[in-house]
Amino acid sequence: MRHFLHDFDLSAAEQSQILDLALKMKATPDEFRQTLAGKVLGMIFMKSSTRTRVSFEAGMIQLGGSAIFLSSRDIQIGRGEPISDTGEVLSRYLDVIMFRAFAHADVQALAAASSVPVINGLDDYLHPCQALADLLTIKERKGEVAGKQLVYVGDGNNVANSLYFAGALAGLNVRVVAPEGYLPETKVLEEASAAASSGACMEATSDLAGIEGADIVYSDVWASMGQEEEAKQRLKDFEGYQVDKALFGRAKNDAIFMHCLPAHRGEEVSAEVIDGPASVIFDQAENRMHAQKALMAFLLG
Ligand code: CP
Ligand code: NVA
Repeated sequence: MRHFLHDFDLSAAEQSQILDLALKMKATPDEFRQTLAGKVLGMIFMKSSTRTRVSFEAGMIQLGGSAIFLSSRDIQIGRGEPISDTGEVLSRYLDVIMFRAFAHADVQALAAASSVPVINGLDDYLHPCQALADLLTIKERKGEVAGKQLVYVGDGNNVANSLYFAGALAGLNVRVVAPEGYLPETKVLEEASAAASSGACMEATSDLAGIEGADIVYSDVWASMGQEEEAKQRLKDFEGYQVDKALFGRAKNDAIFMHCLPAHRGEEVSAEVIDGPASVIFDQAENRMHAQKALMAFLLG
């Protein structure tokens, strides 16, 4: 029984196999209408979601299964029932569980108690499903992932961490550009570098010149879910780090712009860039569904 809590829960070969399967599922969805027939996915959300919720639910239905949306506000977790009891109980009804949480430890605790696969649907540390979809999008747009340079401009947290880890497996060079105080943890950078056996280069800098050489420029919100109270301070701290036309213009001529969404136009990215010709944000959002369909088919064997 396999979980997907961390990007490293897949080997490089398995990641590549899932991306290939996702491309097949995207091209010929009708061939996969019965792949997970009769299977039930439970989706627990402690935070809001548009893409994760709908892409998982629609994806499961397209594979012949069904999905149940569980808001932590409505289930007993929200009233203090232990996560471990929740995992024990839910895994007796369900075939696979997706969990969006605050603490990564909570996702680990649910998985430890679950007898069915648990998928991390984002926590404060990682967003591995997003990174899988992002690799798929890069593969489609750039032909290949290995050897390309991704530059992430923004907060060095969950989305950036998963880009490092998933990128390390795929041979993608990842550089995070963020103001002092918002750079990724050294440990993350070290772990990603150690895993980048393919020779991919993992870097972090506060220098905006770090965007030079980018095949892919990536951004995310400056204040993540759960950080709403810091939003004002963060607006000040990130001043100058908006991906606007001038900054994006320092990337390669054929660079694409990516964003996990939701986005704040006029903050981390200008409308001109995110709504411009280089932006692939809606392909990225669509690919969440194809990548997760392949992931669920893989985990459920
Ligand atoms: N990118 C992403 O995870 O979006 P949602 O928060 O809408 O699920
Ligand atoms: N970093 C963002 C990603 C949202 C998909 C957050 O955690 O809110």
